[in-house]
Amino acid sequence: MPKLKLVTFGCQANDLDSERITGLLLREGYTLTEQEEEADLILLNTCAVREKAEHKVYSRLGSYQALKRRRAGLKIGVCGCVAQQEGQALLNRFPYLDFVVGPSQLTAIPPLLAGATRGVATARAAGYSYPATAPVQRQSGIRAWVSIMEGCDRFCTFCVVPFTRGRERSRPPQEIIEEIRGLKRQGYREVTLLGQTVNSYGRKLTPPVSFVKLLRHIDELAGDYMRVRFTSPHPSDVTDELASAIAELPSLCEQIHLPVQSGSDRILHRMKRGYTRDEFLEKVALLRAKTPDIAITTDIIVGFPGETKEEFRATLDLMQEVGFDGAFIFKYSPRPHTEAEQMPDQLSEDVKGRRLEQALTLLNRLSLERNRAYIGRTVEVLVNREDAKVDVGRHTGRTRQNKIVHFTGDELADGSVVPVAITGATPLYLQGAIAC
Ligand code: SAH
Ligand code: SF4
Ligand code: F3S
Repeated sequence: MPKLKLVTFGCQANDLDSERITGLLLREGYTLTEQEEEADLILLNTCAVREKAEHKVYSRLGSYQALKRRRAGLKIGVCGCVAQQEGQALLNRFPYLDFVVGPSQLTAIPPLLAGATRGVATARAAGYSYPATAPVQRQSGIRAWVSIMEGCDRFCTFCVVPFTRGRERSRPPQEIIEEIRGLKRQGYREVTLLGQTVNSYGRKLTPPVSFVKLLRHIDELAGDYMRVRFTSPHPSDVTDELASAIAELPSLCEQIHLPVQSGSDRILHRMKRGYTRDEFLEKVALLRAKTPDIAITTDIIVGFPGETKEEFRATLDLMQEVGFDGAFIFKYSPRPHTEAEQMPDQLSEDVKGRRLEQALTLLNRLSLERNRAYIGRTVEVLVNREDAKVDVGRHTGRTRQNKIVHFTGDELADGSVVPVAITGATPLYLQGAIAC
């Protein structure tokens, strides 16, 4: 049986695409291997969101030249956002590369493999791209990614995603419901709905379906068996109805990842984010008014072109004002085709690096404060050893707020839901002991 080595970079959408690619290739008779040396097919599922992510792909590809010479019959393919961005240019640059496949052409992989010539499949799908009948080989038996939309129409000036994933396309609601019904039947305890701007779901469907309506349907199905999350919502589309849904729907977890990017109005405007600092703060206040216990995490970019010291301060200040539970903080990275890449006032790596350090130091303090507030409380934890990266407790799981908990207790099966008394906290996780 031929062996596949699959390497994944990038976001949750790519994690799910890798599960789809695995499903498609297992169906073709492949088995999985971790070893490049014994693979018959090496696939890189790539990310183009920052320059560093893209460079990782090129250096990895470079290292395959010798391998390809040694192993007759080895095929190498590139999928994902770098594939979409570069297309044929990748085949030109790496003569030993066999094929290039964009994120909406995953089902083209088996036919490309069967073909004798090198190929590129990067045509855009008009509708939602992955057929409901095509397979998904999930990594976890407990948590599942469920894509509800693809692409993005927002064109934030720093972001390459609308160019790589294309325009926003929503998946028909019946397909989503059917998939979740199937997951429940298989014993999955949690689903995370995925989309680049997940809460703008359904506007372009005929007839339109609102995101909150979809959530209500899913909640009925999930009952008290499944937890439901979604990522990433856009702040502009956080409505009163959405805030109420988080408060009211039992399956919907008390957690939101709400990317703010900057705390400065001028920078937000230059990023074309579509909201001001005050508007973002109003959304946070609305969410907290309805769900006092909600955990709020975010994405932040430091060193956007022209960001002054004061404007960077405004971001630190906003972080403090909100008191985020966690954040991904990035140095601005110029991306091809984007407006911000053309802006004249690019900052030095040095300045960006220092701002990143400062923001990370503050984040550490804030998330530690937020996590310490759980000490003395008993929380509901879904046991899942996949998060067991730090060996500080016997079990690992997540709270409804999506906080990782390492805790002690008797034997427990993955997928159990248990009460845990929290006794300690770090910026990244909680510690405790089972409370029953
Ligand atoms: N669709 C999501 C974000 C997708 S990209 C949303 O709109 O929230 C994930 C994160 O990468 C972004 O939130 C942003 O913080 C970061 N990012 C995107 N482009 C970037 C760039 N050019 N430089 C640095 N960080 C970037
Ligand atoms: Fe990129 Fe903005 Fe779309 Fe998010 S909303 S994917 S940051 S363009
Ligand atoms: Fe990267 Fe593409 Fe996701 S650029 S972040 S893999 S949408």
